[in-house]
Amino acid sequence: MNKESKIFIAGHKGLVGSTFFNKLKQDGYTNIIVKTSDELDLKNQQAVAAFFSVEKPEYVILAAAKVAVDQENDRLKASYLYENLMIQSNIIHYAYIENVKKLLFLASSCIYPKLASQPLKEESLLSGSLEPSNEAHAIAKIAGIKMCQSYREQYGCNFISVLPTNLYGANDNFNLESCHVIPALMKKFHHAKQNGDQSVTIWGTGKAKREFLHVEDLVSACVFLMKNYHEKSIINVGSGSEITIAELAEQMKKVISFEGEIEWDHSKKDGVMRKLLDNSKLNELGWKHSIRLEEGLQKVYASAQHFL
Ligand SMILES: NC(=O)c1ccc[n+]([C@@H]2O[C@H](COP(=O)([O-])OP(=O)(O)OC[C@H]3O[C@@H](n4cnc5c(N)ncnc54)[C@H](OP(=O)(O)O)[C@@H]3O)[C@@H](O)[C@H]2O)c1
Repeated sequence: MNKESKIFIAGHKGLVGSTFFNKLKQDGYTNIIVKTSDELDLKNQQAVAAFFSVEKPEYVILAAAKVAVDQENDRLKASYLYENLMIQSNIIHYAYIENVKKLLFLASSCIYPKLASQPLKEESLLSGSLEPSNEAHAIAKIAGIKMCQSYREQYGCNFISVLPTNLYGANDNFNLESCHVIPALMKKFHHAKQNGDQSVTIWGTGKAKREFLHVEDLVSACVFLMKNYHEKSIINVGSGSEITIAELAEQMKKVISFEGEIEWDHSKKDGVMRKLLDNSKLNELGWKHSIRLEEGLQKVYASAQHFL
C-alpha cells in the first residue's frame, strides 16, 4: 500500500472508518474512495458490483457494519444477521472479482465462545458455544472471517480479519439508547455535572472487567497489519489491560471533574464478567498500543463535548 494506492474505506462515517479516513489523509494517502450509505447501500449486490467494477479499488478496509450493542441484542438479531451478512458478502466477493490486492475485515472480540479461557487467544474461535444474547452478531462476523479465509484458500486473495477489543473515540455513538459503556458514562457524568446532581446511577455491580482501546490505536494497528500481515489466521487487537467498570467509572468521574457519588443499579445485568484479549501475536509482530486509557478518555472528552 503506497501513498497513491486506491483505497476504499467502507463505513467511513463510523467510529473506525472516520478515524481510518483521517489517519490516511494525515499520512499523505491521496486516492481514498468513500461513499455514504445513501450513495451506496452495501447490502445491495448490484450496486456493490457496479461500484467495484467502475472504481476498481486496490485496497479495501471493511469497516461498514450493523454494530451490536448490549441494549439492542434481543431486538435486532435479524438485522445483525441480514445486514452484516449482506454487506460483508458483497464487499468480499466483489473485492475478489475485481482483483483487490488486499482487504481488511473488521470482526470483533465478542465472537469468542462464552467459556473460552482468558485472555482470549485466536485459537479459541469456534471451540465452544457462543454467548446466546450475542449469537446473531457473532455468527455474522464468523461468516465474514470464514469468507476471507476461504477466498484466500480457493482464489489466493490476500484478505485478513482483525478482532478489535472494545473501542472508544471522539466520533463514537453518544445516544444513550444504543451506545457502548464509555460514551454512556461520559454522557451521564457530563450531564450530572452540568445539572449539579448529587449522584450518578450506573447499571450493574461495577465488577465486570473490560479491555478498551482508543480507536486511533486500532487504526494504527490496522495500517501496520495492512503492510505487514498476510496470513489466513485471525488476529486480536487490544491494549492487553483490563479494568473493572467501577474503576472505569472512577476514572471518568475524575476526567469530567464530577464531585458527586456513584450509585450502582444492581437490578441491571453486568453482561459477561470478563473479556480480555491475548494480544501476544500482534505484539510479537512488532505493534503495541500507545494511548493509555486515562489519556484517551481526556482526549475524547475534550473533542466530543458537542455530542454530549
Ligand atoms: N466500536 C467498537 O467498539 C467495535 C469493537 C470491535 C469491533 N468493531 C467492528 O468495527 C467495525 C466498525 O465499527 P464502528 O464502531 O466504526 O461502527 P459504526 O460507528 O456504527 O459505523 C458503521 C458504518 O457502517 C456504515 N454502514 C452500515 N450499514 C451500511 C450499508 N448498508 N451501506 C453502507 N454503509 C453502511 C455506516 O454508515 P451510515 O451511518 O451511513 O449507516 C457507518 O459509517 C464493525 O465491523 C464493528 O463490528 C467495533
